[in-house]
Amino acid sequence: MRRETIAVHGGYEPDPTTRSAAVPIYQTAAYCFDSAEHGAALFNLEVEGHRYSRISNPTNAVLEERVASLEGGVAAMCVATGQAAIHYAMLNVADVGRNIVTVPQLYGTTHTMFAHYLPRLGIHVKFAETDQAASLEAQIDENTRAIYCESVGNPAGNVADIEAFAKIAHKHGIPLIVDNTVPSPILCRPIEYGADIVIHSLTKFLGGHGTTLGGIIVDAGRFDWKAQAEKFPAFNLPDASYHGMVYADHFGAKAFIARARSVYLRTTGASLAPLSAFLLLQGIETVAVRMDRHVENARRVAEFLRDDPRVQWVNYAGFPGHPSYELTQKYLHGRACSLITFGVQGGMEGGMRFYNELKMIRRLVNLGDTKTLACHPASTTHRQMSPEEQLHAGVSPETIRMSIGIEHTDDIIADLDQALGAA
Ligand SMILES: Cc1ncc(COP(=O)(O)O)c(C=O)c1O
Repeated sequence: MRRETIAVHGGYEPDPTTRSAAVPIYQTAAYCFDSAEHGAALFNLEVEGHRYSRISNPTNAVLEERVASLEGGVAAMCVATGQAAIHYAMLNVADVGRNIVTVPQLYGTTHTMFAHYLPRLGIHVKFAETDQAASLEAQIDENTRAIYCESVGNPAGNVADIEAFAKIAHKHGIPLIVDNTVPSPILCRPIEYGADIVIHSLTKFLGGHGTTLGGIIVDAGRFDWKAQAEKFPAFNLPDASYHGMVYADHFGAKAFIARARSVYLRTTGASLAPLSAFLLLQGIETVAVRMDRHVENARRVAEFLRDDPRVQWVNYAGFPGHPSYELTQKYLHGRACSLITFGVQGGMEGGMRFYNELKMIRRLVNLGDTKTLACHPASTTHRQMSPEEQLHAGVSPETIRMSIGIEHTDDIIADLDQALGAA
């Protein structure tokens, strides 16, 4: 099936008992065993089935299969938020004394997790100077366990050279982990270019309506954990916390997700509520149609901003001459994302004046909603960073970040026009 079709049907056959056409919400904490032996077999992972909804749930399983198919992966695990997905993926590859290498252009809270939180667990994150492949490779040492990037940086809008990053990661025997939240699998599928693990904040374009938090980890199923047994003993040695399970042997291509579920979701429990999975599935059904509109609206808004003398600069990767223009052609098939940053005259003060004058466009920190949203990253999402770190991440004091929605383009532009005038 093609992505438009997977988005509607992926992972679900009508429920055999009720013939429900819509994915049922399995609002249950636990699942009944046929017998003591059946319960034991489930816990031994000898038979398939659900035991307890902290670990897995049938509604969530549909979401997992649908997003895995959309990304071209073999397995997925959904969790309560995008941050939980990133956290579990990091813990799954790196232990005390190991490190992750990343680009500097990251979502603010991911940066905070990498720069301040993971180091307290003994996992160091090495930030490359730039998003060039050579800059990442220069940071890799014998303790590096993954390369991490955002396929399109939030809010920098830079497009990652996924194929080049994957080559470097594989040369050093480590996986490439890509946060694909901003383009969604409709615009970009990192696994096609060699990524091993893909992460989403489902809260954004996939859910699409700004109603429901969620995150997911998708495994391409290609990374050979057995071949890298020295680097990744946790996948290759018996796990005492799970009666001696050897994940790479038992689960093969699905080992990453199986371990993330058995170790991290089971013990720390950032589980997605089945009602949230249902709501996210409703959003996913229309993601392909929405992305077309997001992309087209963003292009017209970017052109309006570029041509308006009250606007000092516009950062939109769909314009020839943008540093990521060529990569946009390659990885996004020319369809630049609907995340735009720009600066108005008058620096920080001018930016804030403009921001306060917006009427229809919402002032908040989210992206990927049907509604057009605006935020001022320096004072909100990227506030915890130093001014230098902010600049590295693509945030200057006056930067306004907009996530262009699916309203009529003329109404979005009219609001921007009146706000620029008033400011
Ligand atoms: C690129 C990116 N990744 C991850 C996240 C975190 O997702 P969540 O808010 O669902 O935890 C965000 C949130 O804005 C994001 O923009």
